[in-house]
Amino acid sequence: MKGIVFVELVRMAESALGEDVVDEILDETELETDGAFSVVGNYPCRELLTIVEAIGARVKVPVEDLHEQFGQWMFARFVESYPVFFEGKTDGFDMLESIENEVHVEVRKLYPEVELPSFTTERLSADQFKMVYDSERPLHHFCKGMIQSCMEHFQQEVDLQMVDRSQDGRFTAEFTLQKAA
Ligand code: HEM
Repeated sequence: MKGIVFVELVRMAESALGEDVVDEILDETELETDGAFSVVGNYPCRELLTIVEAIGARVKVPVEDLHEQFGQWMFARFVESYPVFFEGKTDGFDMLESIENEVHVEVRKLYPEVELPSFTTERLSADQFKMVYDSERPLHHFCKGMIQSCMEHFQQEVDLQMVDRSQDGRFTAEFTLQKAA
């Protein structure tokens, strides 16, 4: 997993808890990398899971909520860093449809080592959209946060439901988005 993801996780934690507390958490946590992350590095995803667990234990927040918050944080960073992917998209559903065959395809061209999930999407009706997440990594709550922020970005009010269908080390989640009346 790309270093930028780790750098941003640490930044998000620092903005909420302060640098000293985050340093302390990283020092107390058994990490393979000593907690010194660089944007040009690549680190195992389990390292990210360990850090989120350590923060969750410290601040007594469920890890799922932290992953979701982190998804929201990363979405804002992507909007800032890669505005080109958001241009020409008519709404949030249009944007979500473009991740699998456009956005993540370009990301893989830029960084061949990335670890990406796969998505399928379906328009169930004019107001209802389905997106299925599939990955070797358990980042579906992170994904939920990204989807929430994507909808907010396009000022689209939706009811978002996630059903976790993960089994046997494969992480699958079904998202249903219903436009608010
Ligand atoms: C709402 C839109 C998006 C969704 C739902 C989404 C979803 C995800 C998820 C869930 C992951 C974690 C990897 C996994 O679960 O296996 C991921 C990774 C990533 N995505 Fe997206 N993404 C979106 C938009 C973008 C955009 C706009 C960019 C900008 C270029 C981007 C670039 C990346 C990168 C660089 C990674 C990290 C891969 C790695 O570290 O190996 N994504 N994305």
